[in-house]
This record gives sequence, C-alpha cells and structure tokens, in this order.
Amino acid sequence: MDTALAEDRRFPPDEVFAATANADASIYERDFEEFWTSEARSRISWFRDFETLYEWQPPYAKWYLGGSLNVCYNCVDRHVEAGNGDKVAYFWEGEPLGDRRALTFAGLQREVVRFAAGLRQLGVRKGTPVGIYMGMVPELAIAMLACARLGAPFTVVFGGFSAEALAGRLTDMECEVLITQDQGWRKGRTVPLKANADDAVSRAPKVTTVVVLERTGQGAALTEGRDHTWASVVAGQPDDPAACPCEPMDSEDLLFLLYSSGTTGKPKGIVHTTAGYLTGVATTHHYIFDISPATVYWCAADIGWITGHSYIVFGPLANGTTSVLYEGVPDFPERDRWWDIIERYRVTVLYTAPTAIRTHMKWGPQYAEQHDLSSLRLLGSVGEPINPEAWIWYRKHIGGDHTPVVDTWWQTETGMIMITPLPGVTTLKPGSATRPFPGVQAAVYNESGEPVGPGAGGYLVLKRPWPAMLRGLYKDDERYRATYWSRYDGVYFTGDGARVDSDGDLWLLGRVDDVMNVSGHRLSTIEVESALVDHHDVAEAAVVGRADAQTGQAIVSYVTLKAGVDASPAKLTELREHVAMRIGRIAMPANIVFTPELPKTRSGKIMRRLLRDVADNRELGDTTTLADPAVVEEIKTRAVTEA
Ligand code: WT7
Repeated sequence: MDTALAEDRRFPPDEVFAATANADASIYERDFEEFWTSEARSRISWFRDFETLYEWQPPYAKWYLGGSLNVCYNCVDRHVEAGNGDKVAYFWEGEPLGDRRALTFAGLQREVVRFAAGLRQLGVRKGTPVGIYMGMVPELAIAMLACARLGAPFTVVFGGFSAEALAGRLTDMECEVLITQDQGWRKGRTVPLKANADDAVSRAPKVTTVVVLERTGQGAALTEGRDHTWASVVAGQPDDPAACPCEPMDSEDLLFLLYSSGTTGKPKGIVHTTAGYLTGVATTHHYIFDISPATVYWCAADIGWITGHSYIVFGPLANGTTSVLYEGVPDFPERDRWWDIIERYRVTVLYTAPTAIRTHMKWGPQYAEQHDLSSLRLLGSVGEPINPEAWIWYRKHIGGDHTPVVDTWWQTETGMIMITPLPGVTTLKPGSATRPFPGVQAAVYNESGEPVGPGAGGYLVLKRPWPAMLRGLYKDDERYRATYWSRYDGVYFTGDGARVDSDGDLWLLGRVDDVMNVSGHRLSTIEVESALVDHHDVAEAAVVGRADAQTGQAIVSYVTLKAGVDASPAKLTELREHVAMRIGRIAMPANIVFTPELPKTRSGKIMRRLLRDVADNRELGDTTTLADPAVVEEIKTRAVTEA
C-alpha cells in the first residue's frame, strides 16, 4: 500500500465553493466559550435556556447546565411547526429493487407520535431502558425518536451482531423493552433478527415486552403476552403531537448508550446525554457537510454504529436536512447500486468509509461512469485512516475531479467529528484529517506527555472537554478513568497514533491498543480470543489484526487445539462459525493458524506484537524475552503455508 508519509499533493479550497460555504477562516478565531454558547442557542430549540455552558471536574464534564429540551422535538416537531412539514426527511431505498418510500418531516412526525403513544401504552415512561435491534428501515429512526420523545434511554444493537452479543447489551442496560423486526434484507437473503432476538431475550429476563416490525413478511413466531407487532402497537393511536407530547429533558439526561469494543472482552456502554450531544452533532454536521436547505445528504453507514446515530439520525434531522437511507449493500443487485441511488435522488453529499471506497476502486470506475453523479458537491470519509490513493480515486471518479473530500476523525466516545477539514476553508491533503474542529483542542504526545514536533509520531489526545463527549462508561467508573484518563493527567487518551506535519496538520496512524478496525468496525482482539477459547476444542488462542488492502485490517488468529483434536479445514470452519455465533459475522477471523504453542514471555504473557509482525510478514521485533524462541519459527512456517 502507498505511504501517507511521502504524500505531498495539496488541494486548496475552490473559490466557487468557498463563496457560499457555511464556514470561513474566521471560524477558527472564535472563542471556545462563545462558539459553543452561540451554536447551542442558534441551532437548538430549548424549552428552558441553559445557565452555565459547562462544568469540568476531570474526568467528568457537564454541558448546558440548567437547560431543558427534547431531542425529538428538535429533530422533528419544530420543523413541522416552522412550515417545513412537506420537506422530505428521508428518501428511503429498500434493498429489493423498487421498494422505496419518501418520508416528509410531517409524515415522520405522525409516525413517531403514533409509535411513541403505542410504546407509552405498553408502559414505556421517562427512564425506561429500551433495546433496539433492527436493520436499515425508517422504523429504526422512528423507534429512536419515539424513545427520545418519551425520555426513554435506548441502546441500538447493530443487526449484524449475534443473539449473544445482543443479550449481553440488553442485560447490561437492564432493558425492559426490545424493538426488533421479523427479518432484515441482506443481498437478497434474509437475516433472522426476530429469531436472534428470541434467543437473546431468553437470556435477558428483564425484557418483558417485544415489538416486532414486519419487514420481509416472511413471518416470525410471536410469544403471547410478550410480543406485539409494530402494526398492532400503532393501531388506533393518535398522530396529533399534542396527544403524546415531547417530554422535557434536562441537558444532562441520558439519551442513549452505545456499546463499543475496548481492550478487554466486555464491550463498554458509552454514555451520551441530551443537550451537549445534540449541539455537537448538529453543529459539526452543518459546517463540515456544508448543509443548506437544498442539500440531499447520504451517509452510507449503518445506524447501528455511532456514525449512523450522529450523522444519519440526530445531526441531519436536527438541521432539517433531507437524507437518503439505504437498506442494502453496495453490490445488490449490481455493483452500480450506490451510483444509481445518487443519480435518482440527486445526492449532493456522500459520507462513507475508506473500506467501501477501496471496494469500489477494486471493482473499477465503470459502474460509477454509468450514472450521472454531477449533483455531488462534497464527499466525506470516516472510520479508519484513508490511504492517499483511495482519497484521490474517490475525488476523481465519484467527485468528478472537483469536490472537496473531508476525512473526518472521531470515535463512538467523542459522539461528534473532532478532526476534519472544513470545506471551502481548509487546504486538503490526501490522507490527512488536517485539524481540530473549531472549539476542539487536540495534540500529539510522546510517552512522557510532551507534544511531539513536526514529522514525529505519538499519541493523539484531546485537551479539553467538548459538548458531545461521553459522560462515562455505564456502571463502570473505574474503567472510564483507566481507559481514557490514566495515561496523561486531565487529558483524554484516544487510543490512536498520529503525526503532525510542518503545517500543524494531523495524520492519523491507527490504533495503538488491542482494538482492531475491520472495514471501519471496531473489534477487540480479546473479545475474539474469548470467543475462540470458549470453544470446547480450543486450548489457547491469540488474535491480532493484520494489514489488509481492502478492509484496513483483517483478523488473524493463532489457535492451539486441545490434545487429540485434529487441525482440519473442517475445524477451521467450525471455529470461524463459532466466533460468528458468539459475536457476529463481522468478527470472523479471516485466517486461523493452528499452532502447537503460542509465543509467550517468561511471565506467561502472549506476545501479540510478535504475532502481528508474523501476520504482516514483517521483520520480527525483539524476541529475547520469549520463553521458547522456537515457537515463533514454527508459527512463521505455518502462517505461510496456511495463509
Ligand atoms: C476509531 C473509532 C466514529 C466513526 C466510526 C468509528 C478510527 C475513525 C478515522 C479517520 C483514521 C479513524 C480510529 C478511532 N477512525 N475515523 N478519519 N482516520 N482513523 O467509530 O467504532 O468508535 O472507532 O476509528 O482508530 O479511534 P469507532
């Protein structure tokens, strides 16, 4: 793969674009407190204005203290009240061809009100924890908004996660209600969401109510007294917003939890609250995607991840933006599906991940060339470092060789985009996320906490609180402090490596911990290891991410089988399926290397760094602390023969 280190191409802002852009260079001179105060007052509708901008008692922040507001009101009702009810909120494109629907803000309001009223009848109140396990259907956004309307905190679990992963999250949040669907569509086949949900709920005893959207119509067994179809929940409910009003919420009330992988086996429940989160996502969405009333915006992520929460649901809706929502994959039925969608809806902004761009690159530009993509005026990238060649390809073949490309760095924890160019302002560099968003302070530190100089690498840190920052890890204070606040005093540790160039621009280098990034999905090595070790034939397992030209990283695992178990290809398939069952198909190792032993230090710690070197075919690092150096040689030969 090409190296970002030698990249010297520059793309200064286009004058025509800059003339109408939402941001100009003066935005970087705005005072931090003035910035977040006036953005919150101008972008958000408050039931009661806030008194204090923020309070910072490291590592705990509170924002917009004293304020009262409702996220659903801000995303839906106020746009209808302002006379924009006929504007399209979502152009929804189902995976089966021709299955499409336009939902206006007024239509969205009616559906949200009816569903919220139905949930209320089922006993959902302010504070009732709700789980949501669905595919990319409008009802997923409707369910999130209905919860926000009632003040019920929710957790969305990505539809690709297994029953067991779902059960863990439902149990941790103590969810009482689960909203799901019969099946989801994926490449013409169905994903058994309700069957997984049944399995999960049998292990999550607090869930007493399940709502099932009938999406595919292929049927789902209902449990009497527990399960209700979506249609029966909304039947007879009023669609008058006054009949089910928006619950006034305090600025710091819990909005949602989103579980994300850390460096241990147990996913972390990342806590996001109301006012700061909404202000952060609305403000960043407005400036970074240069949103205007004419924008047709498409973020091609899944709502099950933070990207979808912040930039498919809450940011765009708060800004009254028209978005595309697509249920399916890029190559169903054909590899031009995305470009067909862009042409059909005259999409002006596309936001996606480098792994998707590299996939299209591999397929070749002919699919994009079959369509009129001239409506596009801005492209975005998120989820992993983008290699300069993919950046250039994206701009050239999708952006007509003229659109800005904004590479946006952030995390589930940050809630909002933190490092990014501003279109029309920033000189773009392929492969660089450039600089912190206004009001954000980032730095690159060395081991001892000093900022590194130009050209040098170090750890990316965030130096002061920001409105959408996580408020903690659910029920795990100690882990919150240990993960983000223990390496440097009073400074947020991101877990990412970065480099600053001589202009002060930032180049992200990937994770520095045991977190892997596969196709922009975050997975923990330990989580996959635990899934493997839990199989009855496995004695020991070590998992590492190896560089992969398409998916960024691919999962490689080294497995020692119990005595007497055959290292057969069938065993390999069985173990991969086992991981899919425990976590989800996204966590299936691309390769499993069977080995009689794992390399360990004399104190018995598995040497993952060494295994990473083997996986990446690199010169091996220091092996002197290794208990039995012969093990590595053995693994190297096996890795080569089995790759
Ligand atoms: C990790 C966070 C937040 C969006 C989706 C991922 C990596 C994210 C970039 C980027 C380089 C990036 C980082 C980060 N990452 N965006 N533009 N350039 N790396 O959210 O699952 O919480 O993962 O994704 O390593 O720490 P997430």
